[in-house]
Amino acid sequence: FATLDTLDPKGKRILLRVDLNVPMKDGQVTDQTRIERIIPTIRELAEKGGRVILLSHFDRPKGQVVPAMSLKPIATALATALGRPVNFAHDCIGPDAEAATRSLNDGEILLLENTRFQPGEEQNDAELSAALASLGDVYVNDAFSAAHRAHASTAGVASHLPSFGGRLMEAELQALYAALENPERPVGAIVGGAKISTKLQLLENLLDKVDMLAIGGAMANTFLAAQGLNVGKSLKEDDMLDTARLIMAQAKAKNCDLILPVDMIISEDFMAGAPTSTVPANAIPDGWMALDVGPETVKLLNSKLAGLKTLVWNGPLGVFELPPFDEGTNAVAQEAGRLTKAGKLKTVAGGGDTVSALRHAGVLHDMTYVSTAGGAFLEWLEGKVLPGLTAISTTLEKTLPI
Ligand code: 3PG
Repeated sequence: FATLDTLDPKGKRILLRVDLNVPMKDGQVTDQTRIERIIPTIRELAEKGGRVILLSHFDRPKGQVVPAMSLKPIATALATALGRPVNFAHDCIGPDAEAATRSLNDGEILLLENTRFQPGEEQNDAELSAALASLGDVYVNDAFSAAHRAHASTAGVASHLPSFGGRLMEAELQALYAALENPERPVGAIVGGAKISTKLQLLENLLDKVDMLAIGGAMANTFLAAQGLNVGKSLKEDDMLDTARLIMAQAKAKNCDLILPVDMIISEDFMAGAPTSTVPANAIPDGWMALDVGPETVKLLNSKLAGLKTLVWNGPLGVFELPPFDEGTNAVAQEAGRLTKAGKLKTVAGGGDTVSALRHAGVLHDMTYVSTAGGAFLEWLEGKVLPGLTAISTTLEKTLPI
């Protein structure tokens, strides 16, 4: 796609799709990461004289106007982070939005109300796409984290306007390419998570791309069970045992070093501070469940990290929200952070709980790149084509109308 290097924003109405789907509690933003990461694009466009019109979804109001899902409080948080005023329009199309976009001066910023208040947004409705497009002269997508959605504001709108990728979009893609498409080898991946069923495509795609694949989280229990081991009352998927065996066979055939836990921290109860025991992965007694990887697994994983040049991390190794079952994730994340900081490893992390797990381990800022994306990061790892990217890539040849 075309980057902002090829756009002169001066005097233009820039329809800028961002992802302001940020965590909120009691009307306050609790994690500013997504806001911080779109600031360079907003600032660049505004400072060069663009009239910046921000589009975003928030939460899942399903085409209804749900006041609790208004973007209004986020306009305030964004203005504070930018150190500039951010105007707000109470709809993303219609007379209010039109008037607000018309009265914008060069360098001013306007946030339109939640695009998902419109029933046509998630249907990628042609009329809504055209109505959104009529508010701008050009379209810039800086929402990689929403690029897996073929919605009016992420896909449809791009067919009407000259389209560009923003600075965050550029950074996300560069990091992902460097991690998986053209990595410095050996490249490894750590994948945690509860279910093989939700990560199947991801695992299969990674087997084709990485030299080492380490499995953690409850998913690992299913792999252990597939090897005929007793996993007690650990979370596992009985209908995925054959699939797990297939993945292990594929890993062997593809020469990918598949790493499973060799020991586990187990407990009889799923609660913070419950009594624990450390056992080899083949000795989980009945009535006990695995809630984290053990110290031998940490040693093994850390020794594997030392042999890698690139690491992709998705998902925690254990129930990190529930100490002491955070120790495995913490120890491996800290080693990855140490190696990355020392310039020995490039670590790209993202998806689901990964950001909170790395923050919890205190190494979020030590990674080479941490994606702001959840689902989109996973779909990228699955090797899927993201409609938001296709939309801005196919409009490359369009020339600016003004
Ligand atoms: C996300 O938080 O992953 C994106 O904003 C997409 O949100 P969605 O899963 O509701 O489409």
